[in-house]
Amino acid sequence: MRIDVISLFPDFIAQCAAFGVTGRAIERGLLSVHGWNPRDHAEGSYRRVDDRPFGGGPGMVMLIDPLRAALRAARDADPAPVRTIYLTPQGAPLTQAKVHELAERGRILLLCGRYEGIDERLVEAEVDEEISIGDYVLSGGELGAAVIIDAVARLQEGALNDADSAAQDSFENGLLDCPHYTRPVEHELGAVPPVLMSGNHAEIARWRRQQSLERTLRRRPELLDGVDLSPADRQFLAG
Ligand code: ADE
Repeated sequence: MRIDVISLFPDFIAQCAAFGVTGRAIERGLLSVHGWNPRDHAEGSYRRVDDRPFGGGPGMVMLIDPLRAALRAARDADPAPVRTIYLTPQGAPLTQAKVHELAERGRILLLCGRYEGIDERLVEAEVDEEISIGDYVLSGGELGAAVIIDAVARLQEGALNDADSAAQDSFENGLLDCPHYTRPVEHELGAVPPVLMSGNHAEIARWRRQQSLERTLRRRPELLDGVDLSPADRQFLAG
């Protein structure tokens, strides 16, 4: 998969992508991340990328032309079709389902704004989709881009060492993840639940499912509406 990122801070994106699972996915040739700085496409000795908003008010708005030139350079760098995504708090909330959809694409382009945002005419003309990583305001789209890069990198086949670990994550079955334990069995902070040492795989799976159901009910009950609950799940939740 190829990800292009338009950002005034392409080094930040490269650094974020260099570590852990994402770094490994890049090393393994499963993913490539390419930064494009609109300032490199800005005119004049100041290489200006923003200006004051029409209508007044605080802050600055990113200019159309440096962004459009950076977008074109990024698109032209590879013949594969690309979906252009603008990171903004006005976008649709990012979900694991959306992450799967993006991870299946061969190529995406992430557009990061700064200041008050981007001239709306560029958004209308060039952007396919707007995504928010949560209901809070960041000072730019870079952290959102880093979130998307991380989330899609770990879904690339061969990126995780234990292929199962992605399937068991929170949200993969619509539920929050169950708790996890490792050695030692006995610790001053408590003991590991005995069922996990029983060797009974059916019992362990049942316990994990119930832990997930209980956590989801307590912490994020609205998620249960989207989950395919079995009769046993319903019985457990009712009890
Ligand atoms: N840019 C600023 N805030 C953001 C958010 N919450 N999500 C995505 N991009 C952003």
